[in-house]
Amino acid sequence: MKLVVGASLLLSGLLVNAAANCPSYTDYSSTPHEPYSTGRYRIPSMRPPLECRTFNTPTIEQAIFDVNSLISDPDWRQLFSNLFPNTLDTTVAWHNSNATEPYTFLVTGDITAQWIRDSTNQMLPYIPYISADDDLAKLVLGLVNMQAEELLGYPYGNAFQPPPRSGLTPAENGIAVDLSVDPPFDNRTVFEAKFELDSFASFFQISTAYWRATGDYQFMYSKSWSNAMATVLTTIRRLQEPTYNSRHQLNRPLVQYTRLTDSPTETQFGSGIGNPVRYTGMAKTLFRPSDDATIFPFLVPANAYLAVELSNLSYMLSSIGVYSEQADFAKKLATEIRQGVLQHGTTMHPKYGRVFAYETDGYGSTLVMDDANGPALLSLPYLGFVSTSDSTYQNTRRMILSPDDNPWYFTGMYIHGIGSPHTGFLKVWPMAVAMRGLTSTNKTEVKECLDQLKATTSGLGLMHESVNVNKPAEYTRSWFAWCNSLVSQLVFDALNRFPGII
Ligand SMILES: *[C@@H]1O[C@H](CO)[C@@H](O)[C@H](O)[C@H]1NC(C)=O
Ligand SMILES: *[C@@H]1O[C@H](CO)[C@@H](O)[C@H](O)[C@H]1NC(C)=O
Ligand SMILES: *[C@@H]1O[C@H](CO)[C@@H](O)[C@H](O)[C@H]1NC(C)=O
Ligand SMILES: *[C@@H]1O[C@H](CO)[C@@H](O)[C@H](O)[C@H]1NC(C)=O
Repeated sequence: MKLVVGASLLLSGLLVNAAANCPSYTDYSSTPHEPYSTGRYRIPSMRPPLECRTFNTPTIEQAIFDVNSLISDPDWRQLFSNLFPNTLDTTVAWHNSNATEPYTFLVTGDITAQWIRDSTNQMLPYIPYISADDDLAKLVLGLVNMQAEELLGYPYGNAFQPPPRSGLTPAENGIAVDLSVDPPFDNRTVFEAKFELDSFASFFQISTAYWRATGDYQFMYSKSWSNAMATVLTTIRRLQEPTYNSRHQLNRPLVQYTRLTDSPTETQFGSGIGNPVRYTGMAKTLFRPSDDATIFPFLVPANAYLAVELSNLSYMLSSIGVYSEQADFAKKLATEIRQGVLQHGTTMHPKYGRVFAYETDGYGSTLVMDDANGPALLSLPYLGFVSTSDSTYQNTRRMILSPDDNPWYFTGMYIHGIGSPHTGFLKVWPMAVAMRGLTSTNKTEVKECLDQLKATTSGLGLMHESVNVNKPAEYTRSWFAWCNSLVSQLVFDALNRFPGII
């Protein structure tokens, strides 16, 4: 099935680019390459040369061809051709295609490290193709196994180093020196030790999505996966605990993170424990999916995402008839967390009525905003937590898509949408524009999102992390695989719901 191109050699399960002169994709993605599309935006061709692609399969080449036949805009044909295969073309840093226990190390883009959340999302657009492509299925299974190994090794990490057996050089993370993290971690395997609750949901999501698409459940019997799954469940239980016990003394904290820094988003309150919380059913997190510190530890969208994926996990385990104790436990946690979100994760807004809060603490304090990084409030229907027509969601949506009411919504000459404290003022994340399209039922709005995405690649034909609303040439990250995958999902979804939209 796999297209083994001349210059790629399969050496003892390790895919090696034999072409020594393959450019670094960070460099390659920073300048445009010919040929250009014939549309107004002259979108360049950004796929690396064939011999430099990190994974090739005819299934995806065929899909690009098929989707292009449905698109009449030449700019979008070129853009989709760049975006959809980007994770396969550029981020499969290591893949051990072992028949029974494959492993896949998927880098986020410009950093040689694997984020749990990013890697799941990078793979999602390929899931519909894996039932008909064994090599692609094995690539996804490799990611499931890799994440299990990583979380079992250190459940509080958000990003991981390549496994030593891959032979890849670990990424230097300078910030490791002025950190104080408990439990301690090994910087040869953990790239960043920020505890982000959504990592757990992402691990369950890729596991259940793989099983649903292929019917293969052998991976659940591996020691690594079953232990990782059980460890994550007991960790979630501990994260529901309030800060103080019934005698008003401190409960022993599970995880603490502080760092010497001039940026408050890079460290945590309360000696690294986080601000105090009361019991709500939700689970605490020290960091957001933006890798910024939470202000109140109950991050509502991360809990909503976790409730959905715990319930999917429980369904998978019960369907296979294994680990019935964990299946029940996952279901119980899912129910408690969902109740927690609904009872404590909303607030009454003077202008919009009942809305979801971004963060809360169980004492009645809530943070009203949304951040571009998913899971976000904007993405709640995409995550499967509510339907698009849910009235609290619709109120929330109107609020977070308003520059008057979401402090991190920006508007300017070229793009308008949600940004993040992570990149600062007046920077919109294309990811949030794509998510607005994915969660809209209004064709005009979806078209506006697509138009803005096409207009703000800075002539580079790929998605960026953030773009200055008035100067699109001022962007962060030329190589950000997660957003490339998300925008491909929007293209599939938009063509499906509104044929001929592009
Ligand atoms: C595949 O991995 C398993 C488990 O690590 C190992 O026992 C087996 O020898 C490997 N097979 C091959 C062909 O490398
Ligand atoms: C790991 O930490 C040590 C110091 O604590 C540092 O010298 C080393 O460069 C770090 N390694 C990586 C890969 O960041
Ligand atoms: C997980 O649950 C959500 C919400 O019920 C659903 O939309 C989604 O398809 C499920 N995913 C899997 C892989 O089971
Ligand atoms: C659909 O979206 C457009 C553009 O954002 C907006 O002007 C219009 O009012 C929306 N229509 C409805 C019915 O919400």
